[in-house]
Amino acid sequence: MDIKKRIVVLTGAGVSAESGIRTFRDSGGLWEDHDVMDVATPEAWERNMELVLRFYNQRRKQLYEVSPNAAHYALVELEKKYDVRIITQNVDDLHERAGSTHVMHLHGELKKVRSSVDESLVYTLDGWELKVGDTCEKGYQLRPHIVWFGEPVDMIPAAAQLTETADILVVIGTSLNVYPAAGLINYVLPGTPIYLIDPGHFDMGHITTLRFIKAKATEGVGTLLKELLD
Ligand code: OAD
Repeated sequence: MDIKKRIVVLTGAGVSAESGIRTFRDSGGLWEDHDVMDVATPEAWERNMELVLRFYNQRRKQLYEVSPNAAHYALVELEKKYDVRIITQNVDDLHERAGSTHVMHLHGELKKVRSSVDESLVYTLDGWELKVGDTCEKGYQLRPHIVWFGEPVDMIPAAAQLTETADILVVIGTSLNVYPAAGLINYVLPGTPIYLIDPGHFDMGHITTLRFIKAKATEGVGTLLKELLD
């Protein structure tokens, strides 16, 4: 039997940048013209539900206007030879739309909504607009299915366990600034090769198994595929 090596891929906003979705830290401290504290916290939701809904409605609407890019497709290509498991911090669905079969969302999903009282009631939204007055089956207001700042990241234990099983770790387009997601790279077993694709600056010389491909995602994956598929 042919047992495939496992590649765990950690992606961030940078992998979707060339699809036209802006990253967070490249936007001058503002996220699509908003302070994240005004739109992506439980306090913001308490203070101004309409603004939060409008913000995520815009993000969701945009999602219907963009498409996966070469980087998303390259990760699908890797599945021919490897058991590829993607852990993404992104709330878009571009990995799934490209065709990746194993995608774990750490920070939630834009196209899903959930009850603001009973977290177990999660729904896929029909269309892009969630309004004040849209309720779950128990009658409570629905909210975006997004992990906001200050909320626990429930998927972290599962993601950490998965990262431990990696034969190779690939990290694409994340500033590794936001914890606990950024801490995942510490879960690889000693000696595991780590590929990092990002046009930004990283000070990770202490990781001896690191291969830093300093490039945009769509370009960097070309190098990655050459090294891992040839
Ligand atoms: P950031 O905005 O912090 O970082 C984006 C990274 O992508 C940076 O390292 C950029 O250098 C890199 N980048 C920019 N353009 C790129 C390109 N074309 N190709 C490859 N890389 C590129 O985004 P994340 O690290 O994903 O959380 O941010 C983590 C979390 O913080 C997000 O999930 C979000 C945010 O607040 C929530 O929404 C809960």
